[in-house]
Amino acid sequence: MESVQRVVVAPHEEIGRVNPYVHGHFAEHLGELVYGGVFVGKNSAIANTNGVRHDVVDALKPLNIPVLRWPGGCFADDYHWRDGIGPQEDRPLRINRHWGMAKEDNSFGTHEFMEFCRALGSDPYFAGNLGSGTPAELRDWVEYCNYDGDSSLANERRSNGAAEPFDIRMWGIGNENWGCGGNMGPRHYAEEFSRYRSFVSNYSDTKVQAIACGQNDNDWEWTRDFFEHLHTRSYGGRLRAVGGFAIHYYCGTAGSATEYTDAQWIELLSKSLAIEGVLDGCRSIMDQFDPGRKIPLICDEWGAWHPVEKGKPTGGLYQQNTVRDACVAALSLDVFHNLADTVQMANIAQLINVLQAVLLVEEEKCIKTPTYHVFDLYQPHKGAQAVRFESLAEEFSDGGEAAQHCRARYLSHKKFALRAAHGSASVRDGQLCVTAVNPHPTETIELEVELHRAQWSGEVETVRLAPDNIRAYNTFDAPDQVKLEAPQQVQPRGGAVHVTLPPGGVARVRGAIG
Ligand code: AHR
Repeated sequence: MESVQRVVVAPHEEIGRVNPYVHGHFAEHLGELVYGGVFVGKNSAIANTNGVRHDVVDALKPLNIPVLRWPGGCFADDYHWRDGIGPQEDRPLRINRHWGMAKEDNSFGTHEFMEFCRALGSDPYFAGNLGSGTPAELRDWVEYCNYDGDSSLANERRSNGAAEPFDIRMWGIGNENWGCGGNMGPRHYAEEFSRYRSFVSNYSDTKVQAIACGQNDNDWEWTRDFFEHLHTRSYGGRLRAVGGFAIHYYCGTAGSATEYTDAQWIELLSKSLAIEGVLDGCRSIMDQFDPGRKIPLICDEWGAWHPVEKGKPTGGLYQQNTVRDACVAALSLDVFHNLADTVQMANIAQLINVLQAVLLVEEEKCIKTPTYHVFDLYQPHKGAQAVRFESLAEEFSDGGEAAQHCRARYLSHKKFALRAAHGSASVRDGQLCVTAVNPHPTETIELEVELHRAQWSGEVETVRLAPDNIRAYNTFDAPDQVKLEAPQQVQPRGGAVHVTLPPGGVARVRGAIG
């Protein structure tokens, strides 16, 4: 018999609104994400509109992706936007230095990306080039995209087919400028950020949000020095010009994408939960300079990073995606919901064929990964009011040595343990949505969802990702090994909802409350 594991949800104890952007995605010019994944060119035999694949748009549309970051990553600080506009045949051929010296023919540029965003209904988030660009280049890109009046740049946009401005609100001012984006120190970057920011203007009612490069991993010094520098040398409020601070956290790997022991399963899931410590720690430093939390904390790259699949180019970062990755996604999204007052955007890396992708695409085939199904399952949380979720489930592991190491780096102030159930909860229009993960590698649990000072009003809907194997994944030949089950209607028993969750299972419980 499986053990009963209790979780308690307090619908009246509000944390904050779940910013839909925490379900954001990221598309870099890397491997077969853009070329082959999103874009095949007009003349391809694969069905497309202006080169953008129909099957990919059809698969992604139901996810209602709120925001999509582009064109990098490291690629962004080597990208010159003028290369990607105008007639295709005039666009220059460049080398993608960061990602396997691949040929970059620039056939996918600003207009093509915007067409993709429109097809998906996603807000664009552009990563500007600070590392190898100039403030003038970035200024011109913003004007080209956002100006509705009469100027050479706005007219050039019109002659390239976009009569209306793109109104891009979110602009990253560089990417990983402590590394691939220029190997800078935090104070130097703070100066560069201010300089570039001075030339990023509002060309319309759209108020541009300039997003600064945040720390990597546990580099707290980067965050402290960046803010301290802007704060102490804030002639004219340079701090107020920061429209967001974007950190990166990759939980890495343990074993490989598809081969892992139970201990490695536990290790990776424990490391994924450490994202909570990174966000908490970073926000507490920011709070010293921005106590009103006017500057949004963002995590614009996160996810699992496994060794590249055998037979694939090393520069392409292609990896399979299993039930373990689905759990990484679920645990991380639950952390974002539970930190709804702390984190305002998060972008999983990356959309297709690269790192922890939601789709894998090969020639004319396109499949959904287990991670896709978690994003789908968790959709009702977007924009809802996050409320307190407390797991009383049994603690079964401290994560092992590697996770303990993480704990020392990020979570030193908190007791860290993997429980038989982790999750989050949110309320919208009298409907409570609870999601939970069973991270135990071998034990099936009966999840018992109780409410504190509230009752379920009647029948409740449950949906599960209930794999029969924690190492399962989807392939082009067997695309539905891992998928969501059909929704079930269940009657609460003794005031609680019960759901059986196999190892690696993820569930959503949703219903009206009184
Ligand atoms: O997502 C892959 C790479 O990881 C990005 O280009 C970079 O920003 C990070 O190091």
